[in-house]
Amino acid sequence: PDNYKRLIEEILTLKNDKNYMILAHNYIIPELQDISDFTGDSLQIAKWATKINNDNILFLGVDFMAETLKILNPEKNIIVPTKNSTCPMANSLTPEIIKEYKDKYPDAPVVLYVNSTAECKALADYTCTSSNAVEIVNKIDSDTILFGPDKNLGRFVAEKTGKKVVVIPGETGYCYVHNRFSVEDVKKAREKYPDAKIMIHPEAPEEIRSLCDYTGSTGQMMKFPEFEEADEYVVGTEIGMIHKLSKTFKDKKFYPLKEDAICNNMKKNYLKNVYFSLLNEEHKITLPDWLIEKAKIPILNMFKLME
Ligand code: 13P
Ligand code: SF4
Repeated sequence: PDNYKRLIEEILTLKNDKNYMILAHNYIIPELQDISDFTGDSLQIAKWATKINNDNILFLGVDFMAETLKILNPEKNIIVPTKNSTCPMANSLTPEIIKEYKDKYPDAPVVLYVNSTAECKALADYTCTSSNAVEIVNKIDSDTILFGPDKNLGRFVAEKTGKKVVVIPGETGYCYVHNRFSVEDVKKAREKYPDAKIMIHPEAPEEIRSLCDYTGSTGQMMKFPEFEEADEYVVGTEIGMIHKLSKTFKDKKFYPLKEDAICNNMKKNYLKNVYFSLLNEEHKITLPDWLIEKAKIPILNMFKLME
């Protein structure tokens, strides 16, 4: 524990000396959330990115989020503790698959979940996040939408908007953390915590979502307990959320829907590599200018639709 405390002190010293801001996704380990300047969901991170004054940012999350930060702040120095923290769902979609579907549905706009690579974003008309996917698709003037890569979020959007949502790549596009929640998990949680409200992320399958009390992004989950009388909540997303919820709502209790709902890639950010990242100012996010220019378009289109 002494070493651990010293490591945190050294990280904070480096952060101050080198003038870095630390920005983290809600799934990051508690120790790192606690020393971050900002924690949020993917939409909050993207929005925050447009307002940062600091030139140096250490980002804790997965690669597509760091890329989005770079796309919105090409002139800033953005570093990550590891280049290996990726999102398998984002990687399930490729530019080739998008082109194939664009040929089949030439008039359908392409809406991509921010959980996608910069190369795929470069071919999209709009991006969306789990907080605003329904709003964005509702506002687009088309009844047919090509949507990827999350089939579960795509189905949620179809259900809420009544539009024809063609999911790309299809069955292989899902998040392994959220797709593993089962009917049995919800049944067990109801038995164990009969008074609790169950929250679920829209990346979970429809048959699970329909059994829960509230569906929302990690950012929306942070607001739900504010307006509810319940003292207990079961949280159907990555376990990193439990820390943030418990810290924010000190009088309420939060339990994971599944103890092992862990995004291994988010957990590749830990104290030691954060220390070395600040010490050596690595690993820098770099993207070619053409890619930044193209991938920025659907992100800015998303912001415009939200105005
Ligand atoms: P949020 O935008 O809800 O934070 O979701 C990001 C994500 O990767 C969920 O698995
Ligand atoms: Fe990707 Fe799922 Fe991890 Fe989110 S939780 S970053 S969707 S693998």
